[in-house]
Amino acid sequence: DPSLPKPVTIKLDEAGDHIALRKADDADSKGTRVRVFGRVHRERKQKDVLFVTLRDGYGFMQVVISGKLAKTYEALTLTRETSMEIFGEMREVPAGARAPLNRELHADFYKIPKHWRAVGGDDAITNRVTASTEHSTLLDLRHLTLRGENASSVLLVRDAMEYAFNRAYHEARIRKVSPPALVQTQVEGGSTLFKFDYYGADAFLTQSSQLYLETCLPSLGSVYCIEKSFRAEKSLTRRHLSEFTHIEAELDFINFDDLLTHLETLICRVLELVLEDPMIAGYIKTLNPEFKVPERPFMRMRYSDAIKWLIDHEIPNEEGNPHNFGDDIAEAAERKMTDIINKPIFITHFPAHIKAFYMKRDPEDDRVTESVDCLMPGVGEIVGGSMRIDDYDELLAACKREGLDPEPYYWYIDQRKYGSSPHGGYGVGLERLLAWLCKQHTVRDCCLYPRYMGRCKP
Ligand code: 4AD
Repeated sequence: DPSLPKPVTIKLDEAGDHIALRKADDADSKGTRVRVFGRVHRERKQKDVLFVTLRDGYGFMQVVISGKLAKTYEALTLTRETSMEIFGEMREVPAGARAPLNRELHADFYKIPKHWRAVGGDDAITNRVTASTEHSTLLDLRHLTLRGENASSVLLVRDAMEYAFNRAYHEARIRKVSPPALVQTQVEGGSTLFKFDYYGADAFLTQSSQLYLETCLPSLGSVYCIEKSFRAEKSLTRRHLSEFTHIEAELDFINFDDLLTHLETLICRVLELVLEDPMIAGYIKTLNPEFKVPERPFMRMRYSDAIKWLIDHEIPNEEGNPHNFGDDIAEAAERKMTDIINKPIFITHFPAHIKAFYMKRDPEDDRVTESVDCLMPGVGEIVGGSMRIDDYDELLAACKREGLDPEPYYWYIDQRKYGSSPHGGYGVGLERLLAWLCKQHTVRDCCLYPRYMGRCKP
């Protein structure tokens, strides 16, 4: 109807004084005429009225289609996921009814070009993804499951989290850099390297950007990066991916205590920033109703005390025996421990032989390193970090002990020749942090298209 007011085009979550609602108890009041785009998230017919919940990635809107508009071919055959352009008046919902933002759009016109329509029948999205669909099938159909409320809210929290890390680092004057993904050195051991042919030479997908971050300290100060890391993990666990998002930082002129304090401050600041956005806080509340920002300082436990704790609680090692000093704390034991303690824990001072070559020894006890894993309930390790060996000879000796040829590491070792410094850093697994915050069973549901042993599609 060309006599109707010109509409304002809005996103489905848009609100404010520029969008007036027609009052439910005042037929003379006027609502703003708007134009929206979105997809049919749900639809329901009640007598001659069609109720559509429209979704656009920003929010949801209840749309009321009535009269002649509900009797068209398009309305009568409307399928979920069909895209629509809708014009109409914004109104308050009638008393007793509920809708997102307590409002609904009363359509006076809509358009559904033929190719915007979603398939129905056997191929309808509701037949392809049901409550009983197996997880691996859901992952084959990730392009469709992403449209669900659960999957999309985890990804929206993820977006907020990455943004929060960027903000928190900038507040702390830590600078962002972008190290290479194609490398010729290992960081975390040879068994999880993805090797490929690089113009006739051997190269790897990076396991961690740490060594590159260390080279930035002299000129850029403390630095961080948010990049992909790759691990050819040969086990199928709920917390291992072949490709994960690694948030890594390297801090200059610090000691081990500074590193731990920085880590707990950063984690809490990031959570605070994430929760600042009421929409994101709402998603977290739905996904993880009991979530509370942890208290600082985090519990600190030396590795040797963790071993004692595991023995006292009769939690065995991987071979089913009581733990011994020197054992790796395996995933199952770690999870039991975090589930019992039920708050973040810093496990510190791991023995040198179970950790990476670059970790600095504890000056008080040469068997152990100034290293830390941060463990969270339900997930286990979400952060690994340490102080780095800053002495040239000590680093060469460490390479030798680990059987690493120092030649390809010349650029890393050179750091200790041209003005060394006490420094340390860490890597946070973004998917693991999200699994904890959003109470997800597996990290596979915390990334867009997960990669793990046996899956490299879609
Ligand atoms: O403990 P990691 O192996 O430490 C490093 O790579 C150090 N070089 C980081 C540094 O100091 N800059 O890995 C750090 C974190 C782990 O705590 C975990 O959260 C995550 O990265 N991570 C994985 N996440 C998912 N899938 C995997 N296969 C992961 N491997 C490590």
